[in-house]
Amino acid sequence: MSVAIEQEPRDEQGNRLTAGREQPSDTRSDGLSTPCSELVTGRKASCVWGLGYIGWSTVEALRAENIRVLGYDVSAGRVAALRDNEGPGLEVTDGRDRALTEDIAVHFVCVPTERQAEPYSDALLDVFTSICRATGARARPGTPPLVIIESTLTPGTVEQLLLPVAVEAGLVLGRDLFLALAPRRDWFLAEGYGLRDLDRVYGGVNDASATAAYEVLSLMCDTLHRAQGHLEAELVKCVENSYRHLEITLANQLTLGYPHVDMVEVLRLAGTKWNIGTYHPSFGTGGYCIPLSSRYLLRGAAHPEELSLLSQAVETDTRMRSLVAESVADGPVVILGLAYKGGIKVATLSPTIRIAEELTRLGVPFSVHDPMYADEEIEALLGVGTAVRDLADAIREAATVLIVPDHPEFRGEPFLGLLTEERKSPLLILDNHGVLADHPSWPERVTYRRAGNPLWLDSATVSAPAEKDLV
Ligand SMILES: NC(=O)c1ccc[n+]([C@@H]2O[C@H](COP(=O)([O-])OP(=O)(O)OC[C@H]3O[C@@H](n4cnc5c(N)ncnc54)[C@H](O)[C@@H]3O)[C@@H](O)[C@H]2O)c1
Repeated sequence: MSVAIEQEPRDEQGNRLTAGREQPSDTRSDGLSTPCSELVTGRKASCVWGLGYIGWSTVEALRAENIRVLGYDVSAGRVAALRDNEGPGLEVTDGRDRALTEDIAVHFVCVPTERQAEPYSDALLDVFTSICRATGARARPGTPPLVIIESTLTPGTVEQLLLPVAVEAGLVLGRDLFLALAPRRDWFLAEGYGLRDLDRVYGGVNDASATAAYEVLSLMCDTLHRAQGHLEAELVKCVENSYRHLEITLANQLTLGYPHVDMVEVLRLAGTKWNIGTYHPSFGTGGYCIPLSSRYLLRGAAHPEELSLLSQAVETDTRMRSLVAESVADGPVVILGLAYKGGIKVATLSPTIRIAEELTRLGVPFSVHDPMYADEEIEALLGVGTAVRDLADAIREAATVLIVPDHPEFRGEPFLGLLTEERKSPLLILDNHGVLADHPSWPERVTYRRAGNPLWLDSATVSAPAEKDLV
């Protein structure tokens, strides 16, 4: 495969002689401009492919540096929603031809790489093929364009999927088209923090690509860490998230193994040791990153059977949602929160989705409310009739309320008032992240359990050991 990547000097072990070194800003000894200088001088524009959560933040970071941006998204609806932001230096389009006619200096690829909880590469291939064909069709004097892939990749994607596409377009990667990976990390809601102060790992298919990427990424990020090559850069993103996946799964396996113990408290105390993070049992992970990390690593590995910890993490994580649904099999159930995480409107792989599927399978009536989502948005994801119509009535009639994301709204009205009303019928509140764990008292007939509290899952049938058995 490496014939289609520009060759570079290597040591006896095959390591790049230039790897790991940060580069000076003039990356071309022939005196030609670089992709970065094309951008900052305004001679050429950048193009961001995929204008979702990640792509749009890249657009904003580029705009902050006065770099001309063309944003492309396959979704006409998404583009229409972003049109108001257009102005000098920013155009958004769902017209593929428009995105390909301009001679672009730097392409940022931010398309989804997950579908139905599995790694997915169609959108990436679609976009990369378009870029390669357009580059191949264009006369190529001067600076090659640079592609920076920000999406999370299955390890091996560059070698197995992207390289053949470049070859077919008649391109030598690293010579005719620079290619680098700079997978995204995110602060999410950490106020005052942004892309600039988030350490970032990047790697290129060759030295010239990595150097070109370094220059461009330096415009928006203060601390860059260069990976030896593209495979290492692909792996880092998955590995860092799989660490978290394993630790979260261990918390869940502990609560399943010791159902009669308050595992929230045990893990809080364990977390007082200086080198241990604080985790807690939950309904399972959600979002684009953590639940998929182990799947990406398993999919790309030469020997997936050696990664048994990761396969177990995937299995336990998936099972948690079913266990929650089975434990509340008496309806009606009200699920508070569609988002997978508090304060953000992202439902990707949210535990709510899987729990809703399981409740449907079990024939248990349920409805969902999320202050960040309109009823139509909830029903588009979960089906017609799944959105709560009247919150007060739904909670009064519910046998169980599941609180899934830790939206701050759930601590206030109307939620707290409705959950603490005197009741005629029993209510079980199962709280994923302990949003209401500090509430001092609950009315008669209301049982509150945080995930990880003793016997929080009714299906966990192991009873506490009898006192006489303890020494
Ligand atoms: N959201 C996160 O928290 C996060 C964090 C780190 C990494 N990532 C990774 O970043 C990538 C993008 O994630 P996101 O959260 O921005 O996704 P998203 O779903 O918010 O946005 C993706 C956008 O790409 C568009 N799209 C789909 N197919 C396309 C195509 N063929 N051409 C052009 N546009 C297309 C979609 O319409 C959508 O607007 C994924 O690989 C994800 O794993 C996400």
